[in-house]
Amino acid sequence: STGYVTLDPSYGNTGSCKSAITYIDGDQGILRYRGYDIAELCEKSTFMEVSYLLVYGELPTPEQFTRFKDKVQHHSLIHEDMKSFFTAYPGHAHPMAILSAMVCSLSVYHPELLKSDPTPKEMSQTITRLLSKVRVLAAFAYKRSVGEAFVYTKPKLDYVANFLHMMFTNPVEDYEVDEVIRKALDVLFIIHADHEQNCSTSTVRMVGSSKANLFAAISAGICALWGPLHGGANQMVIEMLEDIAKDGCNYKKYIDKAKDKNDPFRLMGFGHRVYKNYDPRAQIIKKHCDELLDQLGINDPILEIAKGLEEAALTDPYFIERKLYPNVDFYSGIVYRAMGIPTNMFTVMFALGRLPGWIAHWKEMIEEPGTRIARPRQIYVGSPQRAYVPINRRR
Ligand code: SDX
Repeated sequence: STGYVTLDPSYGNTGSCKSAITYIDGDQGILRYRGYDIAELCEKSTFMEVSYLLVYGELPTPEQFTRFKDKVQHHSLIHEDMKSFFTAYPGHAHPMAILSAMVCSLSVYHPELLKSDPTPKEMSQTITRLLSKVRVLAAFAYKRSVGEAFVYTKPKLDYVANFLHMMFTNPVEDYEVDEVIRKALDVLFIIHADHEQNCSTSTVRMVGSSKANLFAAISAGICALWGPLHGGANQMVIEMLEDIAKDGCNYKKYIDKAKDKNDPFRLMGFGHRVYKNYDPRAQIIKKHCDELLDQLGINDPILEIAKGLEEAALTDPYFIERKLYPNVDFYSGIVYRAMGIPTNMFTVMFALGRLPGWIAHWKEMIEEPGTRIARPRQIYVGSPQRAYVPINRRR
């Protein structure tokens, strides 16, 4: 009766969407990309290899992987004109606003890739360009926000190390990429890489189903991810934990607020539409969070508050009855903080991780024979037919 329908981009109307990319069992807390368990991929693979796996469906051969990485590195420049776009934004502009606009603007510089039915070669060019350039646009958005010069990638650094290099190197001070940080960020990108039909991925499929180009579809996905109930939650978690710290670490007060029906406050980083068990990604992040802070010798009081809050919530009947567990966003912000990444860039980090998943779903959809434009239906709950009343007779 609410007019809510199941959005189903693959089939144009409502029903269930078929996909061969990611499998989730919410009750068991299982997550697999193309059949490979998330924990095994985090332990044995890399974000670049997982990106190839998600997009092309198979782990790459050594030759395929080398060619893929070389193309991603080759395409890591953006048109010099685009640099002036960044300086047109005020310094306080949220990086997600900049990122979504810049990704859509990439289409202006690659008109040859705007075809609604790209050849496999054109599709591969678009995909490697996006994977490479979105990371550059994200780093440039950060540099704009801190008023520093843009820094370009280095051929010898891998995808993740180059992102950290572009973020933290400046013309007068080199940033040595710490392997511990690089590995932790690579894992974070892997666990964010895909999550079946979440809000932003469904948005990418929805926009792509109209045959809009991939740049436009990804830009729309970035906007959907920005929401505090979705990718914006990782920024909200840290702000919530900082509020709790300022409030004398009284996390019981915040648990009571979250339970109060008259209070719109929700425990950010808790709960999930699909996982009614512990989000496997949260478990992996929590482990890496402990290891990273320990290896970097960082004692972040926010981590202790997060652990105390988690322990209190997991033993509270309200959360137990509703099967509310920590999700992927609960610990990720603490790891980003330890890396020196500012809070307003946390959702951008989520977008960088999710990019291969969005691309994979777009590719799967446009390659699916007979895919039609998404056109969800509704349950009409408005007024029955009625006659027009002239304004002079309205009271
Ligand atoms: C992501 O879909 C994906 O896969 C998303 C994602 C991905 O990888 O793409 O996993 C990433 O977006 C993770 C979620 C990040 N968002 C947050 O952490 C925001 C806080 N969480 C919630 O707002 C909520 O849990 C959602 C949005 C995540 C899920 O909401 P649902 O499935 O619509 O749950 P619901 O609103 O129907 O809640 C069911 C009950 C309600 O209580 P009752 O009306 O039954 O009494 O649980 C309560 C809710 O009030 N509830 C919470 C809560 N989440 C749900 N109560 C307090 N705190 C919370 N966080």
